[in-house]
Amino acid sequence: MHLNGSIALISGGLGDIGKAIGRELASHGADVAIGDVLDTAQASSYLNELLALGVRAIYTQVDVSSPEAVSAWYVDVETKLGIPNLIIPNAAVVSLVRIRDLTPEQWQREMRINLDGAFFMAQTGGKRLVDTGTSGRIVFIGSWVGSTPQDHIPAYCVTKAGLSMLTKVLALDLAPHNILVNEVAPGNVDAGLSARIFEQNPSWRQVSMDRVPIKILTQADEVAFQVAHLCDPRNRQMTGSTLLMDGGLSMMSGPNPA
Ligand SMILES: NC(=O)c1ccc[n+]([C@@H]2O[C@H](COP(=O)([O-])OP(=O)(O)OC[C@H]3O[C@@H](n4cnc5c(N)ncnc54)[C@H](O)[C@@H]3O)[C@@H](O)[C@H]2O)c1
Repeated sequence: MHLNGSIALISGGLGDIGKAIGRELASHGADVAIGDVLDTAQASSYLNELLALGVRAIYTQVDVSSPEAVSAWYVDVETKLGIPNLIIPNAAVVSLVRIRDLTPEQWQREMRINLDGAFFMAQTGGKRLVDTGTSGRIVFIGSWVGSTPQDHIPAYCVTKAGLSMLTKVLALDLAPHNILVNEVAPGNVDAGLSARIFEQNPSWRQVSMDRVPIKILTQADEVAFQVAHLCDPRNRQMTGSTLLMDGGLSMMSGPNPA
């Protein structure tokens, strides 16, 4: 796969899955623009890792829940690298709170970061591609819980369900412009958000693994591999799709570890 000449824009790019996506796309020759809320100093060693792959790589501190901040991020990236044509809305947060106890603030925070943030990023990037006649790919990072309810993370489930429909409506609008829009929906990944939940509740990791029909938790680089697959120029037909990669988890019924 050759992604030389492509410019990838990845939100939540300093998280475990975001870093794996950046590495994977850079390994195929794409320049990478990372955005995250974390301090710039926290990006330096990772940026060096990407630069060592022979691509251009930059970091911008950005809060994707702000449309103004997302617009400014695009301007910054376009000035330094060019127009991003591989757009990967990946930033997300999760609260482990049952729906009866969820506060308005918790609900709104997840909606703003996971769903609004993904929308601001995809809409801004999609418009810019259309305006400049540039083809491209948008790959949302969804989750298996977007279609399988989990009572311990209700707001997160709603945001991921929203992403699936956002994928479809955007795919429909952008298809005539040769911009393909898809979503990767991983199962429980042994990294990032889930890894932190497993740290707080050590028995859940094994229970989660036992529930997966293939008995393997998803790895961050496996998510990255599927993102790259959707960005591959040879993949010309998939748009508006959810690429479910959960080891069969969503086919199982029964209580979750929580
Ligand atoms: N870990 C899993 O089990 C799992 C499973 C399925 C899907 N996912 C999805 O993968 C994606 C990455 O998650 P992860 O597991 O790597 O988590 P992570 O916490 O390691 O990464 C998320 C990153 O998003 C950043 N972020 C948070 N709020 C932000 C904001 N307002 N603006 C910009 N950046 C912000 C965080 O600083 C963090 O670096 C998410 O969309 C998540 O829903 C994760």
